[in-house]
Amino acid sequence: MSTLPNPGASAKAIQFHYDIGNSFYALWLDSSLTYSCALWDDHDTLEAAQRAKIDYHIEKSRARGQARVLDIGCGWGSTLHRLTSNAGVRSATGLTLSQEQAAYIGQQRWPGVHAHVESWSDHVPSAPYDAIISIGAFEHFAKLDQSPKDKIEGYRGFFRRCHEWLPPGGCLSLQTMAYENSTRADFSPFFASQIFPESDLPRLSEIASASERLFEIVSMRNDRAHYARTSLEWRRRLLRRRLEAVALIGEDAVARYDKYLQLWAIGFHIGTMGLLRLQFRKLEPARLH
Ligand SMILES: C[S@@+](CC[C@H](N)C(=O)[O-])C[C@H]1O[C@@H](n2cnc3c(N)ncnc32)[C@H](O)[C@@H]1O
Repeated sequence: MSTLPNPGASAKAIQFHYDIGNSFYALWLDSSLTYSCALWDDHDTLEAAQRAKIDYHIEKSRARGQARVLDIGCGWGSTLHRLTSNAGVRSATGLTLSQEQAAYIGQQRWPGVHAHVESWSDHVPSAPYDAIISIGAFEHFAKLDQSPKDKIEGYRGFFRRCHEWLPPGGCLSLQTMAYENSTRADFSPFFASQIFPESDLPRLSEIASASERLFEIVSMRNDRAHYARTSLEWRRRLLRRRLEAVALIGEDAVARYDKYLQLWAIGFHIGTMGLLRLQFRKLEPARLH
């Protein structure tokens, strides 16, 4: 199996955002350092809602009790840890483009957990995986200057890889933000220049087109209200620890994060962006042509 060019954000662009400092993120994320939309029940704490989200993807990918599971875009490893400590998974492999995230995971010495600083497009597994999870990383798998055709082609490369790595009937559970009642032109250049460089959101139709004849979509939910609530909760926690945050990353950077979390809360609230949780099941044989 050969590697592919990475169609999305480069390692440098990812590190611009995610390597600003683990201690900064620890101030306002929940204690598991999960950095993606939670799955809320009315009176949940952020911790409980993040755990519920991770468990949702463990169920949808059918990872429970499996030998080998892959987490593409593993962040600080909360899903990897839950897989091995709670879901009976023997070996959980995580991919990230952030050096600081991989270093953090290494320091935890969680049995059965392995993290690599590697793009999915460069990954060559030593053996197939039983299940695949990817939460909040697909937002980085296309660049803003790509044509719709090239964008779908890049996403298709991702789905082809997942297809090759899974057994017949194997599942991928994917969570991603998506353009909803909006286009690229509706977004402030603030996001591309100051928050998530080189990254473009998918549309649901692009995901469907890129995965067809490789996977069937078994279930999907759009939980944009859950991301509005998550963003507001992150912002509340950031403002509570504002002085410490300023001491760590400076006044301007904290202002950027504050602005981005506010804009996200509004965008998810009014439907500029959606939050998709999709369960895919591998089709066999894939009809590629
Ligand atoms: C928003 S974080 C989500 C982290 C984690 N899944 C969570 O929910 O806490 C996005 C993750 O995607 C990773 N990522 C982005 N592009 C990637 C790529 N091409 N290959 C692998 N990981 C990538 C980043 O390094 C980061 O770990």
